Amino acid sequence: MTDDLLRFRAEFPILQRTVYMISNSLGAMPRGVADSLLSYCDTWATRGVRAWEEKWWEMSREVGDAIGVLMNAPSGSVSLQLNVTLCQAVVASCFDFSGRRNKVVYSDMNFPSVMYFWEAQRERGARVHMVKTDDGIHVPTERLLEAIDEDTLLVPISHVVFRSSFIKDVKAIVEKAHRVGALVVLDTFQSLGNVPVDVQAFNVDFATGGVLKWLCGGSGTSYLYVRPDLARKLEPKITGWFAHEHPFDFAVGPTRYSEPPYRFMQGTTNIPGYHAALPGLKIIREAGVDRIREKSKKMTARLIELADQRGWKVNAPRNPEQRGGTVAIDMPNAYEVCQELLRRDVVVDFRPKAGVRFSPHFYNTMEEIDQAIKTVDEILSTMPVPAER
Ligand SMILES: Cc1ncc(COP(=O)(O)O)c(C=O)c1O
Repeated sequence: MTDDLLRFRAEFPILQRTVYMISNSLGAMPRGVADSLLSYCDTWATRGVRAWEEKWWEMSREVGDAIGVLMNAPSGSVSLQLNVTLCQAVVASCFDFSGRRNKVVYSDMNFPSVMYFWEAQRERGARVHMVKTDDGIHVPTERLLEAIDEDTLLVPISHVVFRSSFIKDVKAIVEKAHRVGALVVLDTFQSLGNVPVDVQAFNVDFATGGVLKWLCGGSGTSYLYVRPDLARKLEPKITGWFAHEHPFDFAVGPTRYSEPPYRFMQGTTNIPGYHAALPGLKIIREAGVDRIREKSKKMTARLIELADQRGWKVNAPRNPEQRGGTVAIDMPNAYEVCQELLRRDVVVDFRPKAGVRFSPHFYNTMEEIDQAIKTVDEILSTMPVPAER
């Protein structure tokens, strides 16, 4: 069977030299990024400050829409931010934690930076309730649902868990949250570009993420979707002149909020980052997330099959419908194996309690999966068997 997605391989130079399976961390760079950044330099060099008016000011909206299209977000509903942690802060700044409804329900499977942010909000009055995992792979949905009650203000959760690749039941969580008057902040960093996200079908209130992983867009561009009917009612306190209705009036005194998406922004934007983001977004759109997902399921299934054959521990859901794009495998000497894989140009990473994480994307081949695991076999054959950990 031919794999049509492999026609995009030539767009990613690093694939010629390495087995690149770390798209959960940093997606491969599309070669179009070089031209895109050059066009940024040309504009800056030739148009100078006029570039803001001619192109750069509106770029936030354009790139926001290019991301939005991938998650069925209406045009103008996605603002760009520096990182996901800051997105949480912008959301938090829209709310008051001094009243009775001040509970924040989240799970210990959230990305730590998100956790650090919410824990720090205790001093601002937030009652943070952390729902814990038993198995390091998932938090039972019922346990999360139980914790969401009439006092809950916000539920910041990951769509796909970074540690185990577990896919949460977003619809059930949103349904419960809305039933009791709470709002859901969905972190789609580990899903968008690899696992389908439909913010309207999910009926989620906020969605965040960044482009540097599965969207192959480099660092410095993150996104914040806000449900349009909610967005106009919110007034973020982390704000700045980009969020002002008439920024070029340079008016003195409190802000008058603009419409979304600028309403959720602050100060001067990351124009080179936006240029770096565009080629990857275009490729992902052309490739199609549904097709990427189908292929991803086959690749992760193959990884699990190969790990099982060798008796290695798999720290990822067995059910493909609950599994994102990463399979963490805890083989013997996993840390050392990872270091040696990197030396041999099989690019993966290692996380304590998870093992070596393999994150193939649409540009990888099935042969590369086999090759990566064969390389692990070779490495292990040269190592002494470790004592039980
Ligand atoms: C699910 C998830 N959320 C958030 C982050 C990081 O967010 P930030 O953009 O703040 O670095 C990561 C990984 O880096 C992640 O995997």
